[in-house]
Amino acid sequence: MEKFVIRHTDSLQGTVRISGAKNAALPILAACLLTSEPCYIENVPPLTDVIYMLEMLKGFGAEVAYDKEKESICIHAKELTTLESSYEKADKMRASFLVAGPLISRYGQAKLPLPGGCQIGSRPVDLHLKGFHCMGAKSRQEHGVIDLTTKKLKGATIYLDFPSVGATENIMMAAVLAKGKTIIENAAAEPEIIDLAEFLREIGADIQGDGTDTVEITGVKELEGTTHSVIPDRIEAGTFMVGAAITGGDIVLENVREEHLKPVIAKLAECNVKIEAIPQGLHVYRKGKLQPLQLKTMPFPGFPTDMQAQFMSLMTLAKGTSMITETVFENRFIHAGELQRMGADIRIDSRNAVIEGVEELTGSKVRATDLRAGAALILSALAAKGETEIGEIHHIERGYYKIDEKLRALGADIERKEEV
Ligand code: UD1
Repeated sequence: MEKFVIRHTDSLQGTVRISGAKNAALPILAACLLTSEPCYIENVPPLTDVIYMLEMLKGFGAEVAYDKEKESICIHAKELTTLESSYEKADKMRASFLVAGPLISRYGQAKLPLPGGCQIGSRPVDLHLKGFHCMGAKSRQEHGVIDLTTKKLKGATIYLDFPSVGATENIMMAAVLAKGKTIIENAAAEPEIIDLAEFLREIGADIQGDGTDTVEITGVKELEGTTHSVIPDRIEAGTFMVGAAITGGDIVLENVREEHLKPVIAKLAECNVKIEAIPQGLHVYRKGKLQPLQLKTMPFPGFPTDMQAQFMSLMTLAKGTSMITETVFENRFIHAGELQRMGADIRIDSRNAVIEGVEELTGSKVRATDLRAGAALILSALAAKGETEIGEIHHIERGYYKIDEKLRALGADIERKEEV
């Protein structure tokens, strides 16, 4: 077990390169199961979630070669040896269920442990299953394992009660080899959906409308291999932007797409942070005192729930009262308790958080309760007076590649130590 020890940092300065997006990479890696030809996936940092997904693919019999230095993966799912996954492999992350769509699309069968709930909410898969059922698949659930079977999936019109990212991805992957046309209504429109659709088109799928609320997929007979480079991680980029904001810093982000970050940029501008497009990427710096915000998380193009915790950290030091409403997950304010240990003034009432800005935060012993909560604690620790120890950093490493090295290169005082 390791921890981060972070001391006050006056202001982050310099240039940081943003890694490939975890949430784009995971469904694309799962989608490699759709074809018997090799796929080369580039710009994928060796995060723990990526490693878990690759272990899962190997478990089905896919050949996997990962050049971690080059961040490039070759997956060859020529013939699968099993369509079942063990509890140990599937339980490690919720995204494990993303193999369901590819397996039933290509083989008409999959036996997978249900992904467990997690700290931020119950996270069911009913919308994924609703889609599969509409396409003719049958499911049986026993002892936490879901058994999916179908002769051949058939295209259908599927209305999602909520624009779930995972359900949209799973249904898209199920539909690519189905008979006929599938229409997903009220689909998620996140940039990661578009990246998955790009990959699927590259291997021969027929998909239209990705990035809007209606995605249309016409099934094809078979798919081929490709080389695909994953989009930059907009949440990692947003986290570094908040790092510059909270420390009064001045940084440049490389390998970043401004169009993926519009809500984050708009909200930072409201609290006095300037973001300018430059040839190298995005230039981020603070101009004056941090102003309070009213913020509501929403599906894309709304404000991302994955940036909510980091913005809460920022708001604890704004001049006045801020309010955050979390509409995507039912229990995503656990970080508030840890921020309070550092002197933050936060009141939670169901899905609302009221944050009174304080003069300063003070270093304390805290723990990362989930991935983005952990990132929020790092940001607060940079701004806090004195020293902060953050435990359980394995949560952070699921989604941030070498975050300590990247921050140190920007002048942060952050060390990785063994927890005793
Ligand atoms: C993905 C992201 C995660 C992000 C989230 C929302 C990945 C690997 N993870 O998660 O980082 O926070 O999108 O942007 O891409 N829901 C149901 N039934 C379902 C599916 C979802 O009720 O079948 C609910 C969930 O409980 C949650 C909401 O829908 O309240 C959003 O979930 P969803 O968009 O599916 O998130 P994930 O795909 O799990």
